[in-house]
Parts: sequence; structure tokens; C-alpha cells
Amino acid sequence: MDQISLERIGKQLELGWVEYKETVTSTNDLAAAWARKGAPNFSLIAANHQTKGRGRSGRQWFTPPDSALAFSLILRLDQEPMDVQRFSGLGALAVCTALQQEYQQETQIKWPNDVLLKGKKVCGVLPEAMWTGSNLEAVILGIGINLTANAYPKDIPLLYPAISIEEGLGRSVRDDQFLAAVLWHLKVWFTKINTLEFIEAWEGNLAFMGEEIEITQADHQLIVGRLKGLDSKGRIIIETQEHETQIFSASEIHLRPVVDTSRK
Ligand code: BTN
Repeated sequence: MDQISLERIGKQLELGWVEYKETVTSTNDLAAAWARKGAPNFSLIAANHQTKGRGRSGRQWFTPPDSALAFSLILRLDQEPMDVQRFSGLGALAVCTALQQEYQQETQIKWPNDVLLKGKKVCGVLPEAMWTGSNLEAVILGIGINLTANAYPKDIPLLYPAISIEEGLGRSVRDDQFLAAVLWHLKVWFTKINTLEFIEAWEGNLAFMGEEIEITQADHQLIVGRLKGLDSKGRIIIETQEHETQIFSASEIHLRPVVDTSRK
């Protein structure tokens, strides 16, 4: 990919400002700086290599050169979304449905926003909200997709097993075409972000529905229960072993199945 192919995508999909960078710290940082300068809705920064890529909960995200898609989209809203949490589902739903519909793959979302291909993590999403007082100025939606096996580290333990598009599909894909497919789906879902259809699609693609899962909270407290679905705000509903219903929001938890099928 290069600036010219990104500009072509920008024109086709009516994006805002677009820029392709060889190396950045984090595309989310650049996008936030752009948002402060007034970049319009759907402005996009993509990079070949991130030196300080960020994941959820302050974790690192690796983007070695020539191995992944790393990009951030600036999203602005005419009206406040019902819940900012919905942005967590937006990126995952876009990648999930792009892989299903354009690449005929079976994919799931490990709530809130990891996309699983063959049961392993192929994509992570980092939404960062920018507020001025109580006014939501923009959401920076950062998305990282492993294109080849070089995208994820082999020498450090991962929180969840990883896979790349190339490994999952058994062939490589063109990065610009893949990006365009994801952005197209993202624009469609963005128009529906405040609808019930959006929540139903997010829920309909959830991994481990009806299964026992473990939830690790920010204070490291572990809860085991059955995944029942999503509520109207996109929070997960769990039935605990004591048959109590508990609801969790995306901010600071980690989820995994009790029977870990991804490691088979
Ligand atoms: C996660 O699974 O923890 C979220 C990973 C999000 C990674 C993307 S890559 C593009 C953007 N820039 C970053 O620094 N992070 C996001």
C-alpha cells in the first residue's frame, strides 16, 4: 500500500483526509492530533509500521513492517451515540462481516472487539473517545489486523492465541483491497450504530454464546458464568454459577472461554 492507493480508497469511499505513513508511533496518536486540528469525519491514517502501537488496557500492540494493517479512523457524530461502548463493536463488526461476506470466512467476535478467525485472534480494535467537557468531539477507532504470521510476536506469551489472514485463508490478500472492504462495511455499520439491528448483529456474531466463560476484571477478580448475550448498550450478560445475572461493560475486563478451543 502507498499514499496513492490510500487516496484511491479515500475517493471511492468518500473518506475525509487520508494519509499513509511508513513508520509512526501509533496511528491513534496521529489521528487524535488530526482530530484536534479539525479533520472531518472518516479521516484515515494508515501505517506500515508502528513503533509504539497500543492495545486495550494499556497493553502493547506490535506492528512490524510489511505484516499488518494498522489504521485509525476519525469518527464524528451528528448526534451523541446512545452509548460510546457501541464503538467497541463497530470496528469488530466491520472486520467480521468483511471477512464473512467478501472472503467467505467464518468469523466471530470475542466480546467486546477482538475478531476471531479459526478461533484465534486476527484483529484488535482500540476505540478512544475525545471529549471536550461533556461533548464527544470524535472517536478515534484504531484497528490492527494481522496479515501475515510476522505480525504477532512468537517469543512472548500472548493473552490470546493469534492468527493472520494469510494463515486463516491459506493465501495472501491485497492489503489495499482488504482495507477497502473493511472500511466499506464500517461505513455501513456506522450509519446503524444507534439501532437495534447493530446490537443484534454484534450479538449474533459473538463467540462462546451459551458457553461457560471466565471474566477477569480490572482488579483481577475472576468470574465464571454462561454468556447469555448483549444488553441494549452492548454490555455482556452473564449467568453466574449461582444463577445470578451480571452485566459487564467493555472498559476493563478480559474474557476467555473456560474450555479453550483456540489452543487445540
Ligand atoms: C487490542 O486488541 O488490544 C487492540 C489493538 C488495537 C491496535 C490498533 S493498530 C492501529 C491503532 N493504533 C494503535 O496504536 N492501536 C490501534
